[in-house]
Amino acid sequence: MAVHIDRYERYWMWASTGILVLFLAAIVLTAAVGSAHPPSHVETIDPEQVGVHGEFASPGVSTADGRVIVSLRAEMYVFRPEVIRVPAGTPVTFRITSPDVLHGFQIVGTNVNLTVAPGYVSEATATFPRPGEYLIVCNEYCGLAHHLMQGKLIIEAPR
Ligand code: CUA
Repeated sequence: MAVHIDRYERYWMWASTGILVLFLAAIVLTAAVGSAHPPSHVETIDPEQVGVHGEFASPGVSTADGRVIVSLRAEMYVFRPEVIRVPAGTPVTFRITSPDVLHGFQIVGTNVNLTVAPGYVSEATATFPRPGEYLIVCNEYCGLAHHLMQGKLIIEAPR
């Protein structure tokens, strides 16, 4: 015996299915045609070259035209460098990439929270008004020692 579905209910079922298909198609289209990726993923990079040359081969803090730039590598299961020292009251740009798997870069208690995908450089800029210490954690499950993957950000009083 066939289940009776009211005509209007059937219309709504088709309409809601249609909307889902439309939204899914929009995601696939923008990803494929517009090569859309998360807004913090500013550049692409060859993950096999990350540790070989360039800024991520010798990660650390540098300054360029008054800006502080922190280049970082997130890899199983460590951030390089593990301890970062930057001055208070100066905009700091974090640039981070991964040579292996997906990681996260979250400075706890701030709104710096990046997804670190191999193949992309993720970037965020923040200013820390007061000296202090922040915990950095990886918030994407990246393997057995994921929970041990953390770093420290030390904000120093400007000299
Ligand atoms: Cu790296 Cu979790």
